[in-house]
Amino acid sequence: MVIIDTDPGLDDAVAVLFALQSGRFEVLGLTTVAGNLGIDVTTRNAGRLLALLDRGDIPAIAGAGAPLARPGIDEADIHGDDGLGGVLLPEGAPPFPGFAPSWIADRLREAPAGSIDILALGPLTNIALMLRDHADAAARIGRLIVMGGVVRDKGNAGPHSEFNFACDPEATAMVLAAGLDVTIVPLDVTRKVRADREYLAALNGKSTAATAAAELIAAYFKDGRESRPLHDPCVMLYAVAPELFNTTKQSFSVDISHGADAGAVLPNAGGFPVSVLMDVDATGALDLLGQGLSTSHP
Ligand code: RIB
Ligand code: CA
Repeated sequence: MVIIDTDPGLDDAVAVLFALQSGRFEVLGLTTVAGNLGIDVTTRNAGRLLALLDRGDIPAIAGAGAPLARPGIDEADIHGDDGLGGVLLPEGAPPFPGFAPSWIADRLREAPAGSIDILALGPLTNIALMLRDHADAAARIGRLIVMGGVVRDKGNAGPHSEFNFACDPEATAMVLAAGLDVTIVPLDVTRKVRADREYLAALNGKSTAATAAAELIAAYFKDGRESRPLHDPCVMLYAVAPELFNTTKQSFSVDISHGADAGAVLPNAGGFPVSVLMDVDATGALDLLGQGLSTSHP
C-alpha cells in the first residue's frame, strides 16, 4: 500500500498517472502540499488526476499550504499557473475533509506497521508535520521514497540545491534525521530519465493515462528543448523496480540557512544514513514507465 504526497505539477502528474494505471500500487490516497504551486492548485490537480482515471474511490487530502519556517518558491513558469501546463483534465471531487499529516497518521495507525510506503514528490512539509505531531504513527512508515536533493550535479533551485528540498529545508532536515527507512531520488539520477518527442508519440493513444501523460510532458517542453527530465516518476519506478537503480548509503546534513544554497544536502558522517540513488538504467526505466502508463484495464 502507498500514500503519494505530491505537489502536481507536471512531472508529479505523470508519476501519479503511472501509479494509478500500472496496477502495481494500492494507492490509499493522494496527499497534497504546496510546492510547484499553491495548495489550492495542487489539491485541485490531484482531484483532476483521480477523476481522469475514474478513481473517485481514492481520496485527495490537502496538506500544508506553506513550508515550516520560510516562504515557498514559485515554479509556475515551469508548470503553468494551473500546474498542468494548460492540459485540460476533468474537474475532480472536492478534497476529502481533514489535513494531510493527520490523515496519513490515521492510516499508518490502522495498518500493520511497515505496510504503508510513502512516495514523496514535493516539499517534505507534510511528512515533517506528521513526524512532529504524530511521532507514534511516523514510526510505522514502511519505505519513505523521496524525490529530492542533488549530490554531485548542479542544483535547480540554488547552485547546489534542488527545488523540493530548497522549498522546505527545515522539513527536509527533520525527515533525514528521523531514522526512517528513507531513499532519496536526487537530480543526479532523475535528469538521466528523459522523455523526447519520439517517446511521447509512442505513448499517445495507448490509454487515457498514456495520452494524458504525453500531453503533460509535451507541456513541459520549453523553447524547443529536445527532451525533459522525468523527476517524480523515478520515485514510482524505484518503488516497483529497484533493480533498475544503483544505490548507496550516505549521511547528510541539510543547509537550513537563508542563503543561495538553502536546502542543499551536505555529506556528513555524523548524520543518520539514508539510501541515495546514484545511477539508473534509463532505457529500462522509460520502458517500464511507458508499459505502466499503457496498461489496459478490463
Ligand atoms: O526538483 C524537481 C522537483 O521539483 C519535482 O518534484 C518537481 O515536481 C518539482 O516539484
Ligand atoms: Ca513534484
